[in-house]
Amino acid sequence: MSAPVGDIGLIGLAVMGQNLILNMNDKGFTVVAYNRTTSKVDDFLANEAKGTKVQGAHSIQELCAKLKRPRKIILLVKAGPAVDSFIQQLEPYLEKGDIVIDGGNSHYPDSIRRTQELEAKGLLFVGSGVSGGEEGARHGPSLMPGGSTAAWPAIKEIFQKTAAQVNGEPCCDWVGETGSGHYVKMVHNGIEYGDMQLIAEAYDILKRGLGIHESEIADIFTTWNKGVLDSFLIEITANILKFNDDDGEPLVTKILDKAGQKGTGKWTAIAALDAGTAVTLIGEAVFARCLSAIKEERVRASKVINGPQREPFRGDKQQFIDDLEQALYASKIISYTQGFMLMRETAKELDWNLNYAGIARMWRGGCIIKSVFLGDITSAYEKNKDLESLLFDNFFNKAVHKAQPGWRRVIAQACLWGIPTPAFSTALAFFDGYRSEVVPANLLQAQRDYFGAHTFRVVSGKENARLPKDRDIHINWTGRGGNVSASSYSA
Ligand code: 6PG
Repeated sequence: MSAPVGDIGLIGLAVMGQNLILNMNDKGFTVVAYNRTTSKVDDFLANEAKGTKVQGAHSIQELCAKLKRPRKIILLVKAGPAVDSFIQQLEPYLEKGDIVIDGGNSHYPDSIRRTQELEAKGLLFVGSGVSGGEEGARHGPSLMPGGSTAAWPAIKEIFQKTAAQVNGEPCCDWVGETGSGHYVKMVHNGIEYGDMQLIAEAYDILKRGLGIHESEIADIFTTWNKGVLDSFLIEITANILKFNDDDGEPLVTKILDKAGQKGTGKWTAIAALDAGTAVTLIGEAVFARCLSAIKEERVRASKVINGPQREPFRGDKQQFIDDLEQALYASKIISYTQGFMLMRETAKELDWNLNYAGIARMWRGGCIIKSVFLGDITSAYEKNKDLESLLFDNFFNKAVHKAQPGWRRVIAQACLWGIPTPAFSTALAFFDGYRSEVVPANLLQAQRDYFGAHTFRVVSGKENARLPKDRDIHINWTGRGGNVSASSYSA
C-alpha cells in the first residue's frame, strides 16, 4: 500500500463540505473526501474537484488509510446523532493522537461530551464553529475551533490558511477547551439573530413610519454601510431591497412575513437564562420570529385590535434617518455587550479560558456578522483582556453617549406610531437598567419576603437592630404568619 498523502479528510459532501474541500485544496492541502452515498464522491471528483489534488475515498477505512498521522478528519454532517454515528464508524481505524473535528452547528453540550469521550480513548476532538455560508466555505470562512487543546498545533496551519483573512490576520484562532468552539459559534448565531432583527425593525420604521419606498430604503442602507454600521448584513439588506421581481415590484414585499429558525438563536437565549445573564436582545429577536410565525392569528388580531392613528411625520426626515442609524448602532453595541457578558459568565462557570479579542477577530471577517464594528471590539479587548463590559471601554462608552438622544427619539416615535421595536426597545431598557445605581428590585425582595418569607438583605448604611448587616432578614409584614424564613426550610 502506498504512503498516505492526505493532509486532512472531510466527511459530508453537501455544498458546505465541497466548498471547504476546494478552499483547502486552493491553500495547498491534499484533502481526502468521503460521503456515505459514495456515488457523490465520484461525482465530486469528476466535476467540481476535477483537476485538483483532492482524493476520494469509498469507505471510512480507505479514508483513514489515506491520511497522514496524526489523522485529521472534519465531519460536515447534520448536527446530532449523525455526528456520533460517524465518530463510532471512524474509531476502529483511528490511532492515539488522531483528531476528529466536528464542523457542523452542534450544540455545545454535545461537544463537551464528545471531547471527554474521545480523550478517554486517547483520541482528540475539536468542535469548530464554521460561519459564512457557502461563499465563506469556498473563499474563507470564520473558523472557531475549540476542544482538545493538544489538537491545535496539528490543525492550526490548515485552519488559519483556510479561514478568511482581514488585514493579513486569519479569522480563526483557538477558542478554548471542550465545547467552547461550538459555544462561541452559538453566541455568534444569537448575535446574528439580533443584528437581523434590528435591521428588520429599521426597515419597518422607514417603510411604515416614514413611508419610504424599498428602493430609497436601499439607498439609506448603502449610505449606512459606509459608516459605523459597515457590515455584511447591512450590505446584503441594501441588495435585497433593490432586487425587483419581473413586474418591477421589490421582491422582498412578496415574501411571506413568517420567519423560520433552526434553533441556534433559541439555544443562545436558553443558555443566557441558564447562566442568569440578561441577554435580552437575542431573546427578543427569537421571540420576534415566534410572533411572526403566528401569521394567521396576527391577521385575525389586526381586524379587531386597533393601534394609534398613524400621523404623518412632520419633523426633519433626514435628522430622523440619522437618529435611526444611531439607534441601530447603539442597540448593536448593547447586543454585543450582552453576548460577551454571556461568554464571560459561561467561561467562569465551565472554567474555560476564552480569548475575547481573539473571538472578535475571528468574527471580523468570513462570517455572517462580519463588520468594521468587530474590529473596534477586538481593539477594546486587546487594550484590556479582562474588560468587564464593552460599555466600560472608552470608545464604546463615547459611542453610546453620542447615540443616546437619537436612539430615544426613534423609540419614542415608533411607540407613538404603534410600530413594534422589540430589539431597539429592549436594548435601551437594558442600557437604562445597567446604568442605574438603584433599580426597583428592593420592592421585589419585599414582595418575595411578604408572601413567601424569602428574605432580603439590608442596604449598607441603613442597618439597625431590626435590620442587621450581612444577614438574610425576614420581616413579619402582616403580624400574622411566623418569623421563620423560607431559607430555614430545606426542600
Ligand atoms: C452561519 C450561519 C448559519 C445558520 C444560518 C441559519 O454562521 O453561516 O449562522 O450557521 O445556520 O444562518 O440560521 P437560522 O435558520 O436559525 O436563521
